[in-house]
Amino acid sequence: MVKPDGVQRGLVGDIVDRFETRGLTLVGAKFTQIDDDLAAEHYAEHEDKPFFDDLTTFITSGPVFAMVWQGQDAIRQVRRMMGETDPADSAPGTIRGDFGLDLGRNVIHGSDHEDEGSAEREIGLFFDEDELVDWEQVNEDWLYE
Ligand code: RTP
Ligand code: MG
Repeated sequence: MVKPDGVQRGLVGDIVDRFETRGLTLVGAKFTQIDDDLAAEHYAEHEDKPFFDDLTTFITSGPVFAMVWQGQDAIRQVRRMMGETDPADSAPGTIRGDFGLDLGRNVIHGSDHEDEGSAEREIGLFFDEDELVDWEQVNEDWLYE
């Protein structure tokens, strides 16, 4: 999900481009503004952390672009493309390493690949089942052996 800072800075197109060019398949997308309840649910794992209020205030502060991408090892590969949580520690070439400087303005959210089921849970928070498209990309034979 492109966070409010990424949307405001006009980075949606570049971020979509990176995932598309990598070979992932877009199966859902939504431009929306998160309300307080959804923010609390989305970041429930952090509710006891000292940064929780700042985090939910930020994520509700403007529109976001939520996406569902599918492909081989998609969750882990997306995390690798995002970089580290702190843009200051993120390698150049990653989204956070190319576009961010500050931990609280790190441009993109991705589901946790180590927390099994987090992607499924988060997709359920943002999308109804009929908003996800089951389709086959014509270049699949050229992306996968
Ligand atoms: P995200 O959930 O947003 O994709 O980020 P992440 O998995 O890389 O990092 P996570 O540990 O889940 O933290 C969620 C967001 O909270 C902010 N944060 N602030 N002040 C702090 O110590 C601190 N730690 C984390 C970051 O904006 C992070 O993206
Ligand atoms: Mg996280």
